[in-house]
Amino acid sequence: MPTSPAFDIVVFGATSFVGQIITRYLFDQYGVDGPVNWAIAGRSESKLLALRTTLGKSADPLPIVVADAQSADALRNLCTKTKVVMSTVGPYALYGEPLIKACAETGTDYCDLTGEAPWIKRMIEKYEATAQQTGARIVHSCGYDSIPSDMGVYFLQQQAKERFGQYCSTVKMRVKAAKGGVSGGTIASMLNLVKKASGDATLRKELANPYSICPPVEYVRPKQKPIMSVVYDTDAKAWVAPFVMAAVNERVVQRSNALLHYHKNFTYNEAVRTGKGPLGFMGAAAVTMATGGFMVAVAIPPIRGFIHLFLPKPGEGPSPEAQRTGYFVHEVYGQTESGQSLTVRVSGDRDPGYGSTAKMISQAGLCLAQDIAKTDKPGGFYTPAVLFGHRLIERLQSFAGLTFDVVG
Ligand SMILES: NC(=O)c1ccc[n+]([C@@H]2O[C@H](COP(=O)([O-])OP(=O)(O)OC[C@H]3O[C@@H](n4cnc5c(N)ncnc54)[C@H](OP(=O)(O)O)[C@@H]3O)[C@@H](O)[C@H]2O)c1
Repeated sequence: MPTSPAFDIVVFGATSFVGQIITRYLFDQYGVDGPVNWAIAGRSESKLLALRTTLGKSADPLPIVVADAQSADALRNLCTKTKVVMSTVGPYALYGEPLIKACAETGTDYCDLTGEAPWIKRMIEKYEATAQQTGARIVHSCGYDSIPSDMGVYFLQQQAKERFGQYCSTVKMRVKAAKGGVSGGTIASMLNLVKKASGDATLRKELANPYSICPPVEYVRPKQKPIMSVVYDTDAKAWVAPFVMAAVNERVVQRSNALLHYHKNFTYNEAVRTGKGPLGFMGAAAVTMATGGFMVAVAIPPIRGFIHLFLPKPGEGPSPEAQRTGYFVHEVYGQTESGQSLTVRVSGDRDPGYGSTAKMISQAGLCLAQDIAKTDKPGGFYTPAVLFGHRLIERLQSFAGLTFDVVG
């Protein structure tokens, strides 16, 4: 008879910048030998031991599993020990595939922090059939990209259905306020994607497709209108500019629409709100130029190398103080086809990319391990909204410092 796995969750890549924050969060929240059976994993035993030491003597019983992301045998062994693998080993397009393969083949549930849409597409194409056979539930993008966006739209749609008896067809998210920084791993993932796209026209075409990670449909989907420049937004009553995470978030939300069937004419975009009047306009122009300029600059190899010198390296990221004092506030505006409208606000109490992200992925992993039975949700590739629904919203509000409110 097969034995049940020893752990609910293994944090793979626990020594990464964000993995260390996740480890501290899980330890502070659940301890060792508490309600959650968990372990830390990575390729270097000495780094994992050093990380465990930082938690203090009471963390000594926290189990350690050594596995290299390139070793199929080590990854299969890791999978046999746990219900869920939570991976922060990135860039995922460089290191992530062997673990997806191992999880899909062994029926092990998986979540991660990737924002690399082309890689998500390839993993779905290669491993979805296997995951469906074995029962592995694979959930990408469980951090700042794309939980606030995907769960925010899910929350808005549930509220719309309750109040209006129908889902919204037109939805947009505006970042009202945010404070945070960026880590070396995130920069490495972004640069790897830009580097690949600059020499690959097919990939550039795929990146421009808002439906790139959606299953095919037999009807004509609506044209999406991503925010690429300065625009005055009548819902936000302010100027808005392109949002750097929109490219992945919009695709994840479109996949949720495809699987949850919010609406056949569903349109969605994201932007950053910069304010009213001439100052708001100038802010939007500055954000547009900075984002566009950065993308163009990093596409040119010598400039990319030069810029890289000034950006955080792998293992580096915002200080504990910056994580603690960071936050984000999003507003999601929805309108039904018959003209009713609704606004919801989603906020987080730490810097979006690290302090908040660590709590979001931890609760997503726990939701996968403890709340959602395989009989309810069988194997396959899910978005956070499709797999977790309201169970994750409850967890995020109770244990991760997020709020979801109807504000208009
Ligand atoms: N979605 C979001 O909101 C969000 C937020 C934060 C981060 N991220 C993503 O999360 C990932 C991690 O970011 P980060 O800044 O924390 O990264 P990081 O500090 O650069 O860490 C990378 C990790 O990968 C591990 N690794 C590399 N090669 C490996 C191998 N062959 N076998 C096992 N482990 C290996 C490293 O292990 P060693 O420690 O042994 O070197 C390290 O733990 C990135 O892809 C980033 O884009 C996403």
